[in-house]
Amino acid sequence: MTDAAITPDDARLGDAGGAPDLLSKFDALIAERQALLDTGVRDPFAIVMEKVTSPTEAIISGRRTILLGTYNYMGMTFDPDVVAAGKQALDDYGSGTTGSRVLNGTYQGHRECEEALKDFYGTSSAIVFSTGYQANLGVISTLAGKGDYIILDADSHASIYDGCWLGNAEIVRFRHNSVEDLDKRLGRLPKEAGKLVILEGVYSMLGDIAPLKEMVAVAKKHGAMILCDEAHGMGFFGEHGRGVFEEAGVSDDVDFVVGTFSKSVGTVGGFCVSNHPKFEVLRLVCRPYVFTASLPPSVVATAAASIRKLMHAGEKRAHLWKNSRRLHQGLRDLGFKLGTESAQSAIIAVIFPDQETAVGMWQALLELGLYVNMARPPATPAGMYLLRCSLCAEHSDAQVGEILAMFEQAGRAIGCI
Ligand SMILES: Cc1ncc(COP(=O)(O)O)c(C=O)c1O
Repeated sequence: MTDAAITPDDARLGDAGGAPDLLSKFDALIAERQALLDTGVRDPFAIVMEKVTSPTEAIISGRRTILLGTYNYMGMTFDPDVVAAGKQALDDYGSGTTGSRVLNGTYQGHRECEEALKDFYGTSSAIVFSTGYQANLGVISTLAGKGDYIILDADSHASIYDGCWLGNAEIVRFRHNSVEDLDKRLGRLPKEAGKLVILEGVYSMLGDIAPLKEMVAVAKKHGAMILCDEAHGMGFFGEHGRGVFEEAGVSDDVDFVVGTFSKSVGTVGGFCVSNHPKFEVLRLVCRPYVFTASLPPSVVATAAASIRKLMHAGEKRAHLWKNSRRLHQGLRDLGFKLGTESAQSAIIAVIFPDQETAVGMWQALLELGLYVNMARPPATPAGMYLLRCSLCAEHSDAQVGEILAMFEQAGRAIGCI
């Protein structure tokens, strides 16, 4: 039986010996999904890339499809130097490390990747994790312990929330991007308590950026340490591509920067960089660093090669801004409702009134040859249904034109513009 065919009735089959079926709590979700599939739409969460031909195109259901949902902002996945570095590492070091970083899992390539990060960020320390998700889990749960406070934006990424839940600190949320609310909530906390304020450069659902200059000033006023997640800012923002915090001019006041290799860097992995003199102790005490296998040698080799190239990617950054502004303006002119007033990042969220319209539009675009990501609650703020478009520095002017034409055709067919 395929999972698409699971019904609430099937889910009850596991109910043996009177004990409750632990999966029955998902019955409503299973029923909602089935009702959607019964209308004849494709499952937005079950798409297969049959072949990926470039950073911007793939074959889906046998059809050439423009990719407008990846986080391949800088288009590094097919960079010849990056690919060559990965192939060489496979030949030289094999397919995996089969060990934790603190045991047999630190290879020369992990060190070189951390050196590349230190050079990229200009910091004294860099620690590589197996994903960005684990970097947040590890760093947040290790830094803020019992009796400490974590103050985070209400729209924070799931990995930030999960990092809070893995630790023992008190959690305080402030209203999304509200400097006043951050100030108010910090002001209510005990003066002598340890405090970690967590911010993101770019918020990935709507593509809006944080007012980091003001927020960092407020956090410092209250004596808090600051962690900034630059998952979606790295590569694109700031003179050296370090992220929104660099562009905001607050590099000296941000204590920890978390990031990922799964977006601009174009591979997989996560990291945290810092100038704190005691930062390296995390290698001994951070459970999501210690109790998991390290990244394969080919992955850290591709990451290091990519990071070093991103240091000199000014032209790519300029083209990505051009693409982002053109798509934002074009979609606005067509009459779509967008998540931000102007293009604040390479993410452009197109908002729909309900799930049915969003899925209908998503499918119509796919049939025309355009892949975008469908996002829905609980991932989205305020229960929105949206199509999240993310541009790539390698999208050509012609492709952006095609994308706009497909949005126009699909929007008219669905009747939402
Ligand atoms: C803000 C933010 N932080 C962390 C992550 C986790 O990154 P990774 O894909 O490396 O686990 C993501 C991924 O989407 C993200 O958007």
